[in-house]
Amino acid sequence: MGSMLRVLFVGDVYGRPGRRLIAAHLPTLRERFDFMVVNGENAAGGFGLNREAFEVITGAGAGAVTLGNHAWHHKDVYKLLGDPRLIRPLNLPSGTPGRGYSTFEVNGERLTVVNALGRVFMEASHNPFLALDELLEQGDLGSVIVDFHAEATSEKAALGWHLDGRVAAVIGTHTHVATADTRILPRGTGFQTDAGFTGPMHSIIGADPEGPLQKFLTERPHRFAVKDGGAELNGVMMEIKANRTLKIGRYHHEERHSGERHSEEPAL
Ligand SMILES: [Fe+2]
Ligand SMILES: [Fe+2]
Repeated sequence: MGSMLRVLFVGDVYGRPGRRLIAAHLPTLRERFDFMVVNGENAAGGFGLNREAFEVITGAGAGAVTLGNHAWHHKDVYKLLGDPRLIRPLNLPSGTPGRGYSTFEVNGERLTVVNALGRVFMEASHNPFLALDELLEQGDLGSVIVDFHAEATSEKAALGWHLDGRVAAVIGTHTHVATADTRILPRGTGFQTDAGFTGPMHSIIGADPEGPLQKFLTERPHRFAVKDGGAELNGVMMEIKANRTLKIGRYHHEERHSGERHSEEPAL
């Protein structure tokens, strides 16, 4: 029962180029998708989220904004966390401000968006597998979309399999590089290891290559600057019904001086 929802999930928005593309492109998709989730953990200067960035993303049509390991970078975020559209990682100590998931009413259907942090090659957090198990014991979540913000592909695949048949989708974020493993798992959960990011194209995961390069070459810390110029937007499109994914595909859009490039694979 219930009706089908078209959902677009957009990966980490990075700095001004990312915000610019969100503001220019996301509003054109409002008609096409019933709900849009955008990861905003790098939207302000490449690290964290501030009020301006939150307003750009929600103003462009995002119904939910998720975070990640950079959630606490800007003090602004504490004032924003009262907004049910803003979702910080779930698997943090009890008493952490804000919410790790939020349930929305979309075209008469319940849709819950969760943000969780991985633990492999990342800073310590609580076990995301057990945190999700605990959350899913609540019966009134409707269709659930999990933004799994994690570094290791293995951990992301494992969470997808762990939640298969219990949530509508598990979509990875954090690496900023879209993976080509878009699929529906055997019990109906939509999955992609990483959605990719929304930010400057000619960069190292958003940063001007100079900073990261110097860090690797000299083995000393270097300042990372947001790379200027044309940006790309990466995401995952889904048709969701009754907590399962019926169709899933990658969404890519880029704006360069020479024009736009756009791909949807497979198209919904
Ligand atoms: Fe991250
Ligand atoms: Fe990120």
